[in-house]
Amino acid sequence: MSYFDYNATTPLDERVLEAMLPFLSTFYGNPSSLYRQGRLARSAIDNAREQVATLVDAPASQIIFTSGGTEANNLALATLTTQHRVAISTTEHPSITESAISLQKQNIKLSYINVDSHGLITNATLNQVIRDQPDLVSIMLANNETGVIQDLATITQQLRANGIKIHTDAVQALGKIPVSFKQLAVHFMSISSHKLYGPKGCGALIYEKGLKINPMIIGGGQERKHRAGTENVAAIIGFGKAAELAKAELIDRSAQLLSLRRQLEIELKTIPNLTLFAGD
Ligand SMILES: Cc1ncc(COP(=O)(O)O)c(C=O)c1O
Repeated sequence: MSYFDYNATTPLDERVLEAMLPFLSTFYGNPSSLYRQGRLARSAIDNAREQVATLVDAPASQIIFTSGGTEANNLALATLTTQHRVAISTTEHPSITESAISLQKQNIKLSYINVDSHGLITNATLNQVIRDQPDLVSIMLANNETGVIQDLATITQQLRANGIKIHTDAVQALGKIPVSFKQLAVHFMSISSHKLYGPKGCGALIYEKGLKINPMIIGGGQERKHRAGTENVAAIIGFGKAAELAKAELIDRSAQLLSLRRQLEIELKTIPNLTLFAGD
């Protein structure tokens, strides 16, 4: 069987599986326990957080592990409260769109940001967003269907200059192109492990220091009280390892991906009347 849909998910890297296995057997401690087994699990999670932080160029202390990109996206929007206004691009993943739609029940106002025929947000559209002054804007970095990459650093600069917060869903970008939380200068960023050869059911929300998180899952004090529940230790370890490998291999992976894409585009361009989005 040939599998082509790496945007849907990637297979687990063998080296990731190897890193995870001890945490599904030998090291079964609860990271919140104070004795040796617990401390072992805690320090492995701390290490994974550092590995993810290095890949995304963000402080480890600003990373909240979640059950995946969907939860990270929901958590970012959960920072909004009644009367707040949110603007999302029309090409967002359902984990943003549906979450934003449901927030309308809590009296949060929702508006959409259109993209042009190339899937990009134009300056004119961005200026309109700025005039509308939403509290939070959500714009994905790379689109899951077209592969269109927004010039997010420029967008962020303009939004920030006008006091508007920005969240980005970087799920499809991470592991394929360099992603720097610091350089993008966003307030929130969502990522997911299973798009970069890590396990499913694990992701993270990265947030700028000082911003208030409104937890959706409450209970124990895990993840600095931002996301309660005993951690999925093995998955987090796997995410960390996948991030470490992505960091080390990013240049080669990107080059290989680009070469495959070019080959595909050459063939596709032989089809009459075909429009390529995000093509060269
Ligand atoms: C752009 C984007 N955001 C969010 C998600 C959801 O991530 P997860 O599957 O980890 O919940 C996906 C998954 O397909 C995605 O492509």
